[in-house]
Amino acid sequence: MSAGAFSRAVVVGAGTMGSGIAQVFAAAGIDVTVCDVAVAQHERALAGIQRSLDRLVQRGTLAAEARDATLGRVSFATDVGSAEGADVLVEAIVEQVEAKQALFRAASRVAPEETILASNTSSISITTLAAAATRPERVVGMHFFNPVPVMSLVEVVRGHLTDNDTVGRTVALAERLGKSPVVVNDFPGFVSNRILLPMLNEAFFALMEGVAEKEAIDRVMKLGMNHPMGPLELADFIGLDVCLDIMEVLHRDLGDDKYRPCPLLRRLVAAGRLGRKTGAGVYEYGQ
Ligand code: 3HC
Repeated sequence: MSAGAFSRAVVVGAGTMGSGIAQVFAAAGIDVTVCDVAVAQHERALAGIQRSLDRLVQRGTLAAEARDATLGRVSFATDVGSAEGADVLVEAIVEQVEAKQALFRAASRVAPEETILASNTSSISITTLAAAATRPERVVGMHFFNPVPVMSLVEVVRGHLTDNDTVGRTVALAERLGKSPVVVNDFPGFVSNRILLPMLNEAFFALMEGVAEKEAIDRVMKLGMNHPMGPLELADFIGLDVCLDIMEVLHRDLGDDKYRPCPLLRRLVAAGRLGRKTGAGVYEYGQ
C-alpha cells in the first residue's frame, strides 16, 4: 500500500492533540473519524478544529471552500468499531499504559490486517503497547507536536518489532500530511522529550534555587536561544502534569538521577496548577 492509498483514518481521543491530528488528516484529503467515548468532547473537538481553520482563513492561508471541505471530512464516533476499514488508526488517549494497551487489543480485533496502529504517546514505550496487539509489526509511534496544525515535526517511533514496511508507510503518510517525519528508535522519551523535558525540568530547578525570576528565565531562553517560548511558558503550554509524567518515565526507565523531577514541578502539580489548561501553572492565565 502506498501513502496515496490512505483514504480513511481513525483518531482515538478527541482532546487537543486528537483534534489537531484529525484536522491535519482531513486537510490532506483523508476522511477521518474521531472516536471518543465522551460525546461532550465531540463538540469541543469540532469547535476547536473550526476555530483553527477559521484562523487560517482569516490569515489568508486557506480558502473558505477548503475549510468547508476539510470540516466535511471529519466525523465522530464513540466506539473503536469505527476502525473497521481504516487504513490507519492514531491513538491520542490518556497517557496510561493499560488504557492504551486495551485500545490496541480492541483495534486489532476490528481493523484490517494492513492497518497501521499508531500511538501519539509522548513517553510510553511503543514496544510495550505493541505487545497488546495481534500484529505488533504494524504498531508504530506517530508523535505529533502541539499545536499540531502548526508544528512540522512528526517523530516516527520504531518499536522493537515494528517492520520496515510500517515505518516506510508511516513516513510517507506524515509527508502526505505536510509534515517532516524523523524516524527514531523506541527509547524512553524518544529523541524529542529525552532532550526537551530535562531542559524544562532544569528551568524549574533554576526558578526554585532563585537563579532568576520566572520571566527572566524565559526571556534568557527566548532572546538568547531564539526559542519561540521560554521553558516555563512552554511547560505551562504542554501541561505540568504531562511534564512531570515524562520526567518520571525518564527517571524510572533510564535509572539515572540526572532525570529526577524538580520538587517545585511536583509541588505545582500537587497544587493542581497544571498550566494553561487549569488557568494557572508557573504563570496565571485567568479564565
Ligand atoms: N491552529 C492553526 N494555526 C495556528 C494555531 C492553531 N491551533 N496556533 C497558532 N497558529 C498559527 C497562527 O495562525 C500563525 O500563523 P501565521 O504565521 O501564518 O500567521 C502562527 O501559527 C503563529 O501563531 P501566533 O502568531 O498566534 O502566535 P505565536 O507567534 O506566538 O506562535 C506558537 C504560537 C506556534 C504556539 C509558538 O509560540 C511556538 O512555536 N511555541 C512552541 C511550541 C512547541 O514547542 N510545541 C511543542 C511542545 S512539545 C509537544 O507537543 C510534545 C509532547 O510530547 C510534550
